[in-house]
Amino acid sequence: MDFVIQSDNPEKYHGDCIVVGVFESRQLTESAKILDTASGGYLTKILEQGDMDGKLHTTLLLHAVPNSQSARILLIGLGKQKGYTEKTFQAVVRTIFKALHQTGARTIGLPVADLIVKDKNIAWGMLQSILAAGESSYRFDQLKSKRESSQPLLEKIVFLVNDKFVAASAENVLQQGIAITRGMHVTKDLGNLASNICTPTYLAERASEMAKTYNLKLTVLEEKEMETLGMGALLAVARGSHQPAKLIVLEYRGRQDTEKPVVLVGKGVTFDTGGISLKPSADMDEMKYDMGGAASVFGTLTAVAEMQLPVNVTGIVPTTENMPGGNATKPGDVVTSLSGQTIEILNTDAEGRLILCDALAYAERYNPEVVIDIATLTGACVVALGHVVTGLMGTDEPLIQALLQAGEEISDRAWQLPLGEEYQELLKSNFADVANIGGRWGGAITAACFLSRFTKKYRWAHLDIAGTAWKSGKEKGATGRPVPLLTQFLINHSQSIDG
Ligand code: BES
Ligand code: MN
Ligand code: ZN
Repeated sequence: MDFVIQSDNPEKYHGDCIVVGVFESRQLTESAKILDTASGGYLTKILEQGDMDGKLHTTLLLHAVPNSQSARILLIGLGKQKGYTEKTFQAVVRTIFKALHQTGARTIGLPVADLIVKDKNIAWGMLQSILAAGESSYRFDQLKSKRESSQPLLEKIVFLVNDKFVAASAENVLQQGIAITRGMHVTKDLGNLASNICTPTYLAERASEMAKTYNLKLTVLEEKEMETLGMGALLAVARGSHQPAKLIVLEYRGRQDTEKPVVLVGKGVTFDTGGISLKPSADMDEMKYDMGGAASVFGTLTAVAEMQLPVNVTGIVPTTENMPGGNATKPGDVVTSLSGQTIEILNTDAEGRLILCDALAYAERYNPEVVIDIATLTGACVVALGHVVTGLMGTDEPLIQALLQAGEEISDRAWQLPLGEEYQELLKSNFADVANIGGRWGGAITAACFLSRFTKKYRWAHLDIAGTAWKSGKEKGATGRPVPLLTQFLINHSQSIDG
């Protein structure tokens, strides 16, 4: 899909469809008024007939409106003007694209300034519209023998902005929106793929394709090399699986090599059965998305490379299956991690932290500016925060604030949970330096506490995306989060290096 900005008045736009808003009750927005006047009060007449009131989630498609340059006008209900918030805007753009996909329109005009929220600017409105367009046109049908019928026809979205200066300054937002959408699609595809296809080897192949496309440096460590290095924790998880584990490193260089990279570490468990501490069977299919952290690293690198952002980013993806088996790790087993710390594995289902702790220790070699790990780490995080916000913990307050801020900016929010000594104590082991579980309560926090023991040499934050990377129920599937948050963070970070 193409996106362009045009500084044009709505009545001059000639395309397949122009979209204009109506507040409750029957309050025309600026652009709607212009079209109404041009048509000799046609819109007002239709509204007065009672065909549309402006209620949220409602639309009305008009054809061949008098004196209109575009073939259709889509009226979109904005709800009550008073309660019009960021959330309403997002609901509105979602409704717009849903309605448009049911028409034959290929090019549409969107006077976006009419629809945005008070404390947000046009750039925000455009970016959110592009993400919504991307969301609505996403299909995952590569595993169906026949493609599903409702392929979107939409080809081009023209943001109509009547201020030339604003139009010019918003230009690079288009590029950002397109890049983030592309990244999110990568992340969604990987998350949605079945685990018999999306194996650690498959992820390494995809990384290799990305390396070729975007000229990234790729390193893949095989089990033998990991053994030599002493990655006993990661390999302990891989023991039950017939699929060989990998550690994938992708390096994007948007600046000189001397500039320290932001290191993103993504949990890549391509299927989590729980291992010998086997999970219950209900909904176990969803554990194919336990590589959502890894997928978001690939997605973010895609977005960053598409934008050619002036920043250095290194993605590290430890990847394996977590399976039961005759050779699998058993509860009570003690292993030595790359950091030298010994770990008592009391529960083989707490495997994410085991592969991450070795990847985090390995991250030291890349001389990071900061390290952010992203993981579908705990069910406890879903209990605490639901599917709405991502859990955020860490040892570097400025980094945490920067991530919170980025999430706020792009509406892909995170929420900070505490870490601390009282929680660390719960990880005591009678037989090793640390246990891999901390008991029943505060599970998202004790998991992060475990990770923190392997991140002492650099600034670190952790995103628990167990709730936000996936939707259950009727719309089951990957969400593409937190690619927007991470990309916005990197955009801001690249600007802070310059400033
Ligand atoms: N991959 C799961 C976490 C998870 C649960 C992600 C639900 C998405 C939805 C993780 O490996 C896990 O099993 N965690 C355990 C930890 C426990 C054994 C301490 C959990 O959350 O139950
Ligand atoms: Mn698990
Ligand atoms: Zn897991």
